[in-house]
Amino acid sequence: MNVLGIESSCDETAAAVVADGRRILSSVVASQDAVHAPYGGVVPELASRRHVEVIVPVVERALADAGVKLGDLDAIAVTQGPGLVGSLLVGCSLAKALAWVTARPLVGVNHLEGHIFAVFLEPPAPEYPFLALVVSGGHTALYHAPAPLRYELVGQTRDDAAGEAFDKVAKLLGLGYPGGPAIERTARSGDPAGVPFPLAQMTDQRADFSFSGIKTSVSLHVRCHAPLAAAAVADIAASFQATVVKMLVRQTVKAAARLAVKRVVLTGGVAANTALRAALAAEAAERGITVHVPSMRLCTDNAAMIAAAGTARLAAGERAALTMNAIPDLAL
Ligand code: KG4
Ligand code: ZN
Repeated sequence: MNVLGIESSCDETAAAVVADGRRILSSVVASQDAVHAPYGGVVPELASRRHVEVIVPVVERALADAGVKLGDLDAIAVTQGPGLVGSLLVGCSLAKALAWVTARPLVGVNHLEGHIFAVFLEPPAPEYPFLALVVSGGHTALYHAPAPLRYELVGQTRDDAAGEAFDKVAKLLGLGYPGGPAIERTARSGDPAGVPFPLAQMTDQRADFSFSGIKTSVSLHVRCHAPLAAAAVADIAASFQATVVKMLVRQTVKAAARLAVKRVVLTGGVAANTALRAALAAEAAERGITVHVPSMRLCTDNAAMIAAAGTARLAAGERAALTMNAIPDLAL
């Protein structure tokens, strides 16, 4: 079963062909980083325009790389939400047109479920139940997945997403966009204990997160100590990263213990962060928890994960009508 996946929820235009929901035959990702870098963040209108320009060549390339023709496809899966409405519409429109001309089934995929399904593209696949920490530029949430295609929200950010915090702090430090990889690079030469940033504590039992406090602390610190030498910038980057990692790992292992879950999936753009991967792996190992993390290229936005999730939804009998539409605030 060959499924074409299409992803255009934010600033990456992506298409992929995945066989049986597991085997990646092709995965093409056209990044818009250069378009948005001058603004230090994604400009929605520019993102949709760029998607319109590149989406057809991206799909053609994915088909060519996979060595399949449109007629060889069994179905088409597209990100329906959450995301930027103008961006989502470009992917949904093309997916509907392709489904119509090929007379193949269409399925709408939740972008966050796509991130979770990235782990099924590389063995070993996690067994259910598991806990999934989805950390991206737009989302930071913990889901309990008791069985296939079922999710219970265990905790989420009360303000910024973790990736958003990385992007904003990188901007404050003049490190450029996207911020996550820039902070990670800069942090390598810094002291993670150099600046004591506050760790957000939840007073209730929820496994929620908060990143606006640390962002404000970094902003105040930068203003108090300007101009900053390169070594000071590295210390701030390393300390910020260490604090965010600690918050993410602490809430995740606490929730895993409370739910008695022995498997954790770490996914989304921020899961590409080496410090986060290492810290979660270490804490989990101490507690007998297995961690599943997609390889770097499958952590950040891609269409193979959308095809994988779409395949599972199709197998469960789901079909989208050609009247389906983008849902910018689609919940998982
Ligand atoms: O999943 P993703 O590609 O797009 C969304 O769905 O949002 O995630 C993008 C986010 C950005 O905020 C980016 O700064 C962050 O992931 N990111 C990282 C790293 N690589 C990407 N954050 C920390 N460390 C990284 N290495
Ligand atoms: Zn994403």
